Amino acid sequence: MKRRILNITCIGAGYVGGPTMAVIADRCPDISVTVIDLNEARIAAWNSESLPVYEPGLDEVVRRTRGRNLRFISQREGAAAVAAADAVFISVNTPTKTHGSGAGKASDLSYVEACARYIAEHANGHTIVIEKSTMPVRAADTIKRILATSPHGGTFDVLSNPEFLAEGTAIRDLEKPDRVLIGGEALEAVEALAEVYARWVPDQAILRTGLWSAELSKLAANAFLAQRVSSINAISALCEVTGAQVDEVAKVLGSDSRIGPKFLKASVGFGGSCFKKDLLSLVYLCEFYGLTEPAAYWQSVQDLNEWQKRRFAQMAAAHAKKRGGVVAVLGLAFKKNTNDFRESPAIDICNHLLAEGVKLRLQDERVDPKAFGEVLVDEYKAGFGFFREAAEAVRGSDAILVLTEWDQYTKLDWQKLSATAAPGVMIFDGRTVVDAANAREAGLSVFTVGIGETK
Ligand code: UDX
Ligand code: UDX
Repeated sequence: MKRRILNITCIGAGYVGGPTMAVIADRCPDISVTVIDLNEARIAAWNSESLPVYEPGLDEVVRRTRGRNLRFISQREGAAAVAAADAVFISVNTPTKTHGSGAGKASDLSYVEACARYIAEHANGHTIVIEKSTMPVRAADTIKRILATSPHGGTFDVLSNPEFLAEGTAIRDLEKPDRVLIGGEALEAVEALAEVYARWVPDQAILRTGLWSAELSKLAANAFLAQRVSSINAISALCEVTGAQVDEVAKVLGSDSRIGPKFLKASVGFGGSCFKKDLLSLVYLCEFYGLTEPAAYWQSVQDLNEWQKRRFAQMAAAHAKKRGGVVAVLGLAFKKNTNDFRESPAIDICNHLLAEGVKLRLQDERVDPKAFGEVLVDEYKAGFGFFREAAEAVRGSDAILVLTEWDQYTKLDWQKLSATAAPGVMIFDGRTVVDAANAREAGLSVFTVGIGETK
């Protein structure tokens, strides 16, 4: 039977669910899209002028669609939306388990299971259930088992349609994806979902695979991307001690068409909600299937990242402690153009510096200071303050750390800033964005990741 999707419900109004549904509603005016979430404050924000997610271009898409064919409602009112849906996306978080078997590595599927129970309870007729969240391979088995308990005799197909959007470029990635991946067993369900994307994605970019391949591909794609960052960061440390320059090395590597230029930017370490969680999930899966060496291989990608953050923090702490012990931290988000700081390198680096007794002056143009303050270790709460402008944060500091590649940090006027910083202040550039020549002219020393110290 040919199925058509005209009514979509998405559970989870986060960084993935919100923007993804907004773009589907924008591109498919004939499809009615409802996004539901347990978090009522988040739903209220989606219905306000100040959206809970900052993404370039998102405001415009939501303004065009909200109240037309896109609505945000709380899960309390969501039963009818699930009953009416031809397709329900599951886009809730799948954090690393903190207890039970696999704690510290395996993905916690309890929110996904709760969604499956909610769908089983309220669905009506035939429903296509779509995994949008990143799942461990074979998670669909768990979802299917729960759906089979549906009290009203509902029938279901389960598809895997993982999201590849990157934060900060979510709207562009959704509007012009490299590929859309749909994994499933029932051909008609796969094609019904393909038909939704086909409104704006060329058919050759819509990849159809088996369910398990789709689930594993998402984990593997993130692990490969993280592995490239750890590889270039491993090279960055070697550059610093040999006089090679990591950006020059990256350019040479990237011009080999077999390697390609993307994801070769040395940094203070990768962050974000996905890379660490997905690497650990992959490690756990390998261990679960007795694949010890592959598990160790993927674990090493994560370990290198921890090392990169630690050595940067240790260098900055050592410099600051020899002086007045005041450090300015410019950039708290895990990358530019987002207000998200989940797993941001800034968190570990700030905690390390605070543990060393250093006072921190924090600044970021998008991150909510109160929320960031809450993720820092409780006993150090007296050791930091927030400043709106980079110039204010830098005042009186012995070290200036640049941890996010916000455009404004490429244009800082070091002549002016150096006048208010402490004597002997040093810049630690973890993103290779500082205008080091300008800083040196102002008499400052600069340590740049992958280049080393220049005076
Ligand atoms: C999440 C995962 O982190 C990622 O692995 C996956 O690929 C997609 O989903 P994200 O959208 O960034 O990504 O998560 P988050 O911003 O935390 O949003 C999840 C939302 O789901 C939250 O708003 C939360 O309130 C909601 N939720 C969670 C529910 O509505 N119901 C639940 O049972 C659990
Ligand atoms: C990632 C994947 O790119 C995306 O496909 C998936 O759906 C979710 O996870 P995201 O975490 O939003 O997206 O951002 P990404 O651009 O991948 O960056 C991740 C981290 O790696 C950031 O902290 C970034 O600064 C860092 N990074 C990235 C580098 O340090 N160097 C690089 O060259 C690229």
